[in-house]
Amino acid sequence: MTVLALETSCDETGVAILRRRNDDSGSDLLASEIASQMATHEKYGGIVPEIASRNHLIYAPRLLERATTAAKLRLSEVDAFAATSGPGLASSLMIGASIAKGLAIGFGKPYLAINHLEGHLLSPFFGDPDQNNQICPNVSLVVSGGHTMLIFVHGLSDYRLIGRTVDDAAGEAFDKVAKMLGLRYPGGPEIEKRARSGNPNRFDLPRSMLDSENFSFSGLKTAVRYLLPKIVERFNETPDERRLPQTPYKLDRHVLADLCASFQQAIIDVLVRKTIAAAQKYRVGLVTVSGGVSCNQELRRTFGEACAREGFDFKNAEPWLCTDNAAMIAFAGLLRLQGGFQSEVTEEIDPNLALV
Ligand code: KG4
Ligand code: ZN
Repeated sequence: MTVLALETSCDETGVAILRRRNDDSGSDLLASEIASQMATHEKYGGIVPEIASRNHLIYAPRLLERATTAAKLRLSEVDAFAATSGPGLASSLMIGASIAKGLAIGFGKPYLAINHLEGHLLSPFFGDPDQNNQICPNVSLVVSGGHTMLIFVHGLSDYRLIGRTVDDAAGEAFDKVAKMLGLRYPGGPEIEKRARSGNPNRFDLPRSMLDSENFSFSGLKTAVRYLLPKIVERFNETPDERRLPQTPYKLDRHVLADLCASFQQAIIDVLVRKTIAAAQKYRVGLVTVSGGVSCNQELRRTFGEACAREGFDFKNAEPWLCTDNAAMIAFAGLLRLQGGFQSEVTEEIDPNLALV
């Protein structure tokens, strides 16, 4: 069984082909192509939807060609066509979904509309040999640039929301704080890089809403904003190094490393504590973490340790699968196809599509 998937929810164009082995011993990723538009949008200071959708239209046919060549397969040999149907930018979602629908109609094959968040949520199971039974009950943290959600997963398509952010997503907080510090987008990897040599205990930053199952990260971001002028005053040696508020602050390399480490630690503490508390409450044996922020090595390490200490199994997708890609959409598609799910080609994209 072979699924071809397109992911065009934001500014990354992805095409992947995943084949389930005939002996049910797992699946093989035959191709996973991705084209990033980050450099194009960076000069505008954010994603420009019209440019993103135009580029998807240019890249998607090329990636389809590359993916089928890499997989040594003709489109007529694909068993189902999947695409992200939301959440995301309407004009971007429309491109991938329209192409997948066109292929499904043209080749008389099923169409699968996949929720982007389900793609992330299931990605920790990617590559497991026995995919039929692998979606066992777990508490899942989906933590990306647009979402921070804790979900009780009972099985495929059986999800219950435990908590979500009431303001910024964790990845958004990384991106906004990075911007204040004059670091590049996306901020997560930039902050992580500097945090490696920093002291996470140097600056005392807030851990908000610890008694709730929901998350809040805007207070942490504001705390960094208020701290910055004080740090510049206290630690930077020459007045030249001071910057006016609103512009990125230029900090001494060591102070910057300590601030990045302290900020990163505040986010990790909250994510790990709430996830472990939820896993205890819902009495699951497994914790899973997915989404772009879960590329963070310190987050992965802390989760691994906390789960081992508290007696939970822990699954985290490989870093290349954590940020947006089409392989996770193909995987969710394959599981859905095996589970007997299919979508109508009349199913519309939904920029605000909810998972639960
Ligand atoms: O899942 P993703 O690629 O896109 C969304 O669906 O949002 O996540 C992107 C987010 C960005 O906010 C980025 O800063 C964050 O993931 N991110 C990280 C790291 N790598 C990416 N955050 C912390 N540490 C990282 N290493
Ligand atoms: Zn995503």
